[in-house]
Amino acid sequence: MTKKRNNEAIDYRLWGLTCNGHGELLIGGCSTLELAAKYGTPLHVVNESRLIKTAGNFLETLENIYPEKVSVHFAMKCNAVPGVVDMVRKTGLKAEVMSEFELEIARHIGYSGRDVIVNGPFKPDRLLNACLEYGTRFIIIDSLAELRNLERLCVTAGQHADILLRINPDYIPQGMNQGSATGSRKGCAFGLDLKGGEVDEALKAIHGMSRVKFWGFHFHIGTGIQNPEDYCKALESLRDIIARTFQSGHQIEVFDVGGGFAASTSRGMTTREMLLYEAFDRLPQAGRTRSSIPIQKFAKAVTMGMKKLFGAGNLPELILEPGRCIASSNQLLLLQVHQVKKRTGLKKWLITDGGIGTVTMPTYYEYHEVFLCNDINRTRHEKATITGPVCFAGDIVYRNKAMPEVYPGEILAIMDSGAYFTAWESSFGFARPAIVAAAGGKHRLLRRREEFADMIARDCIPESIQTITN
Ligand SMILES: Cc1ncc(COP(=O)(O)O)c(C=O)c1O
Repeated sequence: MTKKRNNEAIDYRLWGLTCNGHGELLIGGCSTLELAAKYGTPLHVVNESRLIKTAGNFLETLENIYPEKVSVHFAMKCNAVPGVVDMVRKTGLKAEVMSEFELEIARHIGYSGRDVIVNGPFKPDRLLNACLEYGTRFIIIDSLAELRNLERLCVTAGQHADILLRINPDYIPQGMNQGSATGSRKGCAFGLDLKGGEVDEALKAIHGMSRVKFWGFHFHIGTGIQNPEDYCKALESLRDIIARTFQSGHQIEVFDVGGGFAASTSRGMTTREMLLYEAFDRLPQAGRTRSSIPIQKFAKAVTMGMKKLFGAGNLPELILEPGRCIASSNQLLLLQVHQVKKRTGLKKWLITDGGIGTVTMPTYYEYHEVFLCNDINRTRHEKATITGPVCFAGDIVYRNKAMPEVYPGEILAIMDSGAYFTAWESSFGFARPAIVAAAGGKHRLLRRREEFADMIARDCIPESIQTITN
């Protein structure tokens, strides 16, 4: 059974990739081997036209299905590479940011403040003041303290702010747990505690504020959500607070359901799978990675949930904050196999130039496909543990991954590196990778490879304090 599964050919066309007559994997019509040779590995390659198509399709689908105004804000935390965000921007998606850094990128690539919403649990005065100055469309309030602080800053700056309140609905989507569900009351600090009465308290407080204007609510219930029903259920859990909001004299003109829509070609491991993997090295099988839920299903579920909550004739503007489902499958990461180690009676290790210590952090908790770029059809008849270059035991891409026989010098593609890979990467003793975009057989650089000078640019070697004081 296992053997049969290992031999399964995984269809690279699911990612919009092609293959040439030599069995080499191509992305955007470019040879992955040539890209690896030209730019060096590790190397991220963005499938430019497919990314643009995915983003445009998301917007169009939502606009076709939801009867009222829709605004789609790309969750920049998912992939804040300016060249990538700029491609997404040109398709009509706006931006959701969570830090001064992301706000600066939005500004840098030409977003107007009106196209930017600001979210997240950590909004120091510097960020809030920058939002006021930039004129961001909404600041999404995460706590009562933040609400009061924003009113205070607005008074000082002589400004006004439009806000949404982030609700923690205490809802756990299918396959998640308290720790991974961002709308879990017990497990995650995000948002105003609905059950604890904080949302009511915030609504009351806003009545007494002159500088902040309430427009509506937001929740974000998790990432990699496979079941569209989860959005309906989370919306349904807000029925009472919506009624109380209207009763207290507020209008709800905007509702932001966050992001979290699953990518179709990779997925988070469920709690059970994580436990099995950690305890027994049992990696989930490839056949179960493809959720392939079309975005229409999510759009329909959200629309139905909104109609049930507000009534079909009274729908507010809908905001969505997708990250993963836009970017994930439109980027891959090339790694080179440096050495192959086999210990008698034990497993085989493929030592590569990238692991979770540097460039593949999401493979710690997500299942991603891995292809052999130079011979895409070579049969997967064995299991191998793919490691990175860092000297710690956990610098693994995957343990016990079904793989073909692989030799030193060959190139692997870690699929779906478009979501949360560059965000998590670290220069743990190694230069961070370049990022290129490929389309129509051509390629261009989005980010050059890190150099030694970049890696030490913030460092000083001061005289010792003793020398100075003596
Ligand atoms: C508030 C918020 N919105 C949107 C997103 C994007 O989620 P995803 O990439 O799963 O679509 C996240 C991700 O953590 C988030 O925290």
